[in-house]
Amino acid sequence: MSNQPYRTALVTGASSGIGAAIVRRLSEAGIEVHALARDAKRLAQLAEETGCIPHALSVSDVAGIEALMNEIEVDVLVNNAGQSRTGNITNTTVDDIDALVDVNLRAVLQLTRLVVPGMIARDRGHIVNISSIAGHYAFAGGNTVYHATKAGVHSLSQQLRCDLYGRHVRVTEVSPARVETEVFGRLIGNMEEAKKRFFDEYESLLPEDIANSVAFAVLAPQRMNVSFMEVLPTMQVVGGLNFAKKSADPA
Ligand SMILES: NC(=O)c1ccc[n+]([C@@H]2O[C@H](COP(=O)([O-])OP(=O)(O)OC[C@H]3O[C@@H](n4cnc5c(N)ncnc54)[C@H](OP(=O)(O)O)[C@@H]3O)[C@@H](O)[C@H]2O)c1
Repeated sequence: MSNQPYRTALVTGASSGIGAAIVRRLSEAGIEVHALARDAKRLAQLAEETGCIPHALSVSDVAGIEALMNEIEVDVLVNNAGQSRTGNITNTTVDDIDALVDVNLRAVLQLTRLVVPGMIARDRGHIVNISSIAGHYAFAGGNTVYHATKAGVHSLSQQLRCDLYGRHVRVTEVSPARVETEVFGRLIGNMEEAKKRFFDEYESLLPEDIANSVAFAVLAPQRMNVSFMEVLPTMQVVGGLNFAKKSADPA
């Protein structure tokens, strides 16, 4: 029998990939999990499988999120919902910027704002933010808006620990590198092609690897705060420096 103090969790982006794996893992640990994403059908399947409580909602629906948070008590908030886009700042649209800031950053702040008072009052809570190595490193091919939002998630995670100083409310940031999920398929609009291009020839992480990392932090003794975990595939490294050669014609 577990002696961990958490009874409930809310996982965003729970309908696929890392989020669904976290729902499975926390449910196995005996935590009642509220699973939030937009796809009601997939959430219903996950509820059937794990016993989680589904909430078909967008994290950018602030009124909907506020109504939900008035109804439920959350000991563990996992801010996992995320989106990306192809290209870089030279071809980013107004909608790309709005969507990525709304889902990847603004929603994390809104949900955190809503759960923290209850956690402080109960002197019990844990906020887990899924960022990305994109928030810590620059690399060619990355989307500028995605990198910026994930850097924001890193920064707010750091500052939140200062806000919660002296309380038994922990903040963990998990920063994954490549994980085999639907993220690239959504990005290019073709799951089969994404599998071929991004995963078939690479030994990537699996969603359960990140779910187990989250569980390690959540189930750790209360005296211990796993503040930051960077999790990479063994066969992937971050590094590299580009240096464009002098050229008579820079164009
Ligand atoms: N896979 C990687 O290589 C990788 C690496 C580093 C970081 N990450 C991060 O890991 C997190 C999970 O991504 P994933 O790789 O598991 O990708 P995924 O399989 O595409 O899952 C993304 C999840 O986010 C949900 N979502 C998207 N927009 C939403 C919205 N407006 N409201 C509520 N839920 C929303 C999606 O559900 P609905 O469509 O049903 O709403 C889905 O459940 C993201 O934050 C991502 O940035 C992934």
